Amino acid sequence: MRSEITRRQFKGTAIQSLLTFSLLETLFGAELFAKDIRPVTAQWLKELNTIAQDLKGTKLTQGQWKNQCEKLFNQVNLRDLLEFIDFDGRISQTPFREKGERAIRFRFPEVEGLPTNLIFGHQIFKLKQGQSVVPHGHDNMATAFLVLQGSFHGRHYDRLEDTESHMIIKPTINDTFKRGDFSSITEQHDNVHWFKTTAEQGYIFNIHVLNLNNGNSGRVYIDPNGEALNDGSIRARKISAAEATKLYG
Ligand SMILES: [Fe+2]
Repeated sequence: MRSEITRRQFKGTAIQSLLTFSLLETLFGAELFAKDIRPVTAQWLKELNTIAQDLKGTKLTQGQWKNQCEKLFNQVNLRDLLEFIDFDGRISQTPFREKGERAIRFRFPEVEGLPTNLIFGHQIFKLKQGQSVVPHGHDNMATAFLVLQGSFHGRHYDRLEDTESHMIIKPTINDTFKRGDFSSITEQHDNVHWFKTTAEQGYIFNIHVLNLNNGNSGRVYIDPNGEALNDGSIRARKISAAEATKLYG
């Protein structure tokens, strides 16, 4: 009897030690890996936050912010960023929407050196082939896209003029955007964009800096398939989010 218990106890303890050891080893390994990769992306996000702060504090003009934002996006370590945001976890597992983009909100991991109250907003758009981040302009904000995976047909337009019912837009960028490609938007340049997914799946990392001036920040949906004007610009009808999704989502 005694030896039975002892053997069971011994067996239990041995298994427990084995589990503890292997678990510790796994955690230790993960932690080491995380420490290796995290400073790069944390520093990159910190710099994005600094330029967002400078844009809101008017230390940077919108044009200067655009240059600096694109410079940072050009330097991104995509593998690090994907690890940092746990791309293979919740983000890749979140379902697609029936139409239009699935916007995934998430928190960055808390790491040393990265402020927890970031000035800029961020999200990931997830789309399947044929779906679009539907055509829209922006009020009172600056924003940028970085393709994390897949490919897109990305169209941009300058927002030249607004009436109650229409927006006069002029095509600027009309290009293929693949993994690592990016674009940025200010009130002065490329303020309207439209991204149609051309791969089986597409993921976009989006940042936005709101409330640059007084007034509301947000999207203004349009139908870019409007009346072509003589100077190459388009008279685009302002539409609801629902209609934009129905037409282009
Ligand atoms: Fe946008």
